[in-house]
Amino acid sequence: MNSFRLVGPLIRLLDAEKAHSFTLWCLKKGVAPSQKVTPDPILQTSIWGREFTNPLGLAAGFDKNAEVVKPMLAQGFGFTEVGSITPRAQPGNPKPRIFRLSEDKAVINRMGFNNAGAVAAAENLSELRKQPLNGLLGVNLGKNKDTAVALDDYEMGAKQLCHFADYIVINVSSPNTPGLRALQDRKELEILIVGVQRVLLEEMGEKAPPLVLKIAPDLTEADKVDIAAVALDLALDGLTITNTTIERPSSLKSNHRSETGGLSGAPLFDASTRVLSDMYRLTEGKIPLIGVGGISSGEQAYQKIRAGASLIQLYSALVYFGPPLVTEILEDLSRLLKRDGYNSVSEAVGAEHN
Ligand SMILES: Cc1cc2nc3c(=O)[nH]c(=O)nc-3n(C[C@H](O)[C@H](O)[C@H](O)COP(=O)(O)O)c2cc1C
Repeated sequence: MNSFRLVGPLIRLLDAEKAHSFTLWCLKKGVAPSQKVTPDPILQTSIWGREFTNPLGLAAGFDKNAEVVKPMLAQGFGFTEVGSITPRAQPGNPKPRIFRLSEDKAVINRMGFNNAGAVAAAENLSELRKQPLNGLLGVNLGKNKDTAVALDDYEMGAKQLCHFADYIVINVSSPNTPGLRALQDRKELEILIVGVQRVLLEEMGEKAPPLVLKIAPDLTEADKVDIAAVALDLALDGLTITNTTIERPSSLKSNHRSETGGLSGAPLFDASTRVLSDMYRLTEGKIPLIGVGGISSGEQAYQKIRAGASLIQLYSALVYFGPPLVTEILEDLSRLLKRDGYNSVSEAVGAEHN
């Protein structure tokens, strides 16, 4: 019996944010077990000239300050994404601000980019980079709540953190920072992407990490067409699809369903996979996509890949199923790829569009 079956229900007796802090503490102290991972070569994949031992990553928001990169990679993830990190430290919204919707296997959060800021993250990341990592590392950038010109913050974050990143994400899709999602508008996006691309080039030239944009699931058809056009025109390196949703499906049962914030977990799966599939079609399969939203099984990981994801991520399912889920998903994904006659995960990317 894995130890999470024993400890998980106890941790879930704590309020959601205390449970998260306790989990981070255990991971930092090294008292959380790591998983026995035997990487199956069928899961190896190469994106942006970088080698991933498997396509499953930890989504942003779990490790906002880059404190538990190594222990989370030791759970079997092929990569992990830290952040969102804002230039200056900020406390985020008043507590309580994370809610478990247990009956729905979902989470609502309105954290509001609580984080220790880019200087603290840079210290952690530079320490981490002294030794090789057992996986790849994405750095997710946000903006401070009180910054008027968003571009300034994303440029500053990129300048301070690009040296540590295997890829950089501009997050314009969290619902908990006023005005943030309006940056998904075509003109705003162009300004933002061009600005950050310029900073990355100035800082690192040809060695600059790939630039990825993280988008919301709550987009109109016109928004999606615009974002795809901007991504292709500006040679963006990737899209992460999707962040949490402000929608509340009528199927939700939990008492917390009306809390303000972004909904993630099982009820987000269908909506986020639809946007993923739409974006794959609109970008003609030319841009690597990271599929995230509601994954809690190998079957669902496989569905995201077939819809167009080259890489996949999860967060909320860890709250309910714990770290053993990572190896379970990877084993099931290998089995499903072999069942369908694929030799590598990359062959299955976008298969539903053929
Ligand atoms: C508590 C919590 C905090 C999050 N914080 C961030 C964040 O800071 N930046 C970000 O880009 N996404 C953040 N996310 C969104 C996740 O990265 C992911 O896109 C979303 O939860 C959907 O995946 P899931 O259903 O597997 O959780 C957060 C999610 C949760 C549950």
